[in-house]
Amino acid sequence: FRCLMSSILITGGSGYIGSHTVVALISAGYNPVIVDNLSNSKITVLDRIETITGKRPPFYQIDLRDRAALDVVFQTHSISAAIHFGGLKAVGESVAEPLRYYENNIESTLSLCFVMAARGVKRLVFSSSATVYGDPHTVPIREDFPLAPANPYGRTKLMIEQILQDLYAADPAWQIALLRYFNPVGAHPSGLIGEDPGGHPNNLMPYISQVAVGRRERLSVFGSDYPTTDGTGVRDYIHVMDLAEGHLAALRYMEKAESLSPQRQEYKLNLSSPDSLSFPRRRESIPLIVNLGTGRGYSVLEMVSAFEKVSGKTIPWQITDRRPGDIAACYADAIRAKDLLGWTASRTLTDMCADTWRWQSQNPAGYP
Ligand code: NAD
Ligand code: UD1
Repeated sequence: FRCLMSSILITGGSGYIGSHTVVALISAGYNPVIVDNLSNSKITVLDRIETITGKRPPFYQIDLRDRAALDVVFQTHSISAAIHFGGLKAVGESVAEPLRYYENNIESTLSLCFVMAARGVKRLVFSSSATVYGDPHTVPIREDFPLAPANPYGRTKLMIEQILQDLYAADPAWQIALLRYFNPVGAHPSGLIGEDPGGHPNNLMPYISQVAVGRRERLSVFGSDYPTTDGTGVRDYIHVMDLAEGHLAALRYMEKAESLSPQRQEYKLNLSSPDSLSFPRRRESIPLIVNLGTGRGYSVLEMVSAFEKVSGKTIPWQITDRRPGDIAACYADAIRAKDLLGWTASRTLTDMCADTWRWQSQNPAGYP
């Protein structure tokens, strides 16, 4: 059996950002196919995706490092592109277990690229992170800022970016987008899918919402002596549906680039002109490296009060020590995403809090 309908492979598609992107893709008329080993997600998310969209995307429980199993997916579906969310993402865990992080994240990407290359599928969107910038010398952060991730997780992201750039340099038939996410929060407005961290949440929004729903007693605010408006850390929180739509915009950008095919033509032209061979013009924008953020930051205390307003709940909090490795402020320069992709985040902080709260209050213990 081979499905002839053109499909988009979504690795890590049952996870938080992947599941929201699957919904956005289906709504836009694409056919996503999910591959996930369920190491950090639950199969029940598929029922929820089906309830929201009326469609149940094909799902394969496969570890990305299993090349033979992955290849079967490419034999079964006519895949035109992959969006690669699959990976481990907990910073603290990556410090404690670096080998597991390097092995999982890098090997998964290599395996995916090998299979894609063998099957002639050379359009790839990769989930990178603002963590690759480390502690920025100034904000907002532009894509050409120095890269200096401060932990093994962040280094896997940077290494993968470098691997993908080398791959593109070796074979310009690849179309590659490196999307650097800022802080994804919120949930689908239906409240049916959302972020479901197992165990103790590391990130601010899941923690706040678990306090609101009574799963945790109070929020620890990690430091109040940062050089920010109220002394607490400032981040660029972006609604996960805006982020999902950013992936659609990147995909469309690459599809358009191919249909106009200026790049391939240009590359061919360049072959006859040795001077320009080393710098074909397309290299300015592909691999596409784009920040996905809103371009503005909110402090921890601003997030707490916005959440209290929306939920009607009081969020008890106390100031504690700074968390090691944290930085004062981190927010995106979002100009390139607007210029190149025609994409900007449109949902407000109130939307982010309201949608998080709807998901959390309807699913106090997460997915069944
Ligand atoms: P998530 O953990 O919810 O989703 C990742 C999915 O990948 C999970 O479902 C997990 O089971 C799967 N996975 C992990 N290793 C795998 C493997 N070897 N084979 C198959 N599946 C595997 O995380 P998320 O928040 O949705 O993040 C998605 C991507 O975006 C990740 O690559 C993450 O590093 C990146 N990112 C996330 C954030 C964030 O704050 N959530 C920020 C920047 C970048
Ligand atoms: C974390 C990751 C980073 C990742 C990013 C996006 C760390 C050290 N960094 O960064 O690699 O790219 O998420 O998902 O984990 N805070 C509290 N109390 C809490 C939790 C957080 O005060 O219980 C504060 C933090 O100090 C920070 C802000 O809230 O100022 C946001 O924290 P968090 O959600 O963990 O995101 P990042 O620190 O940006």
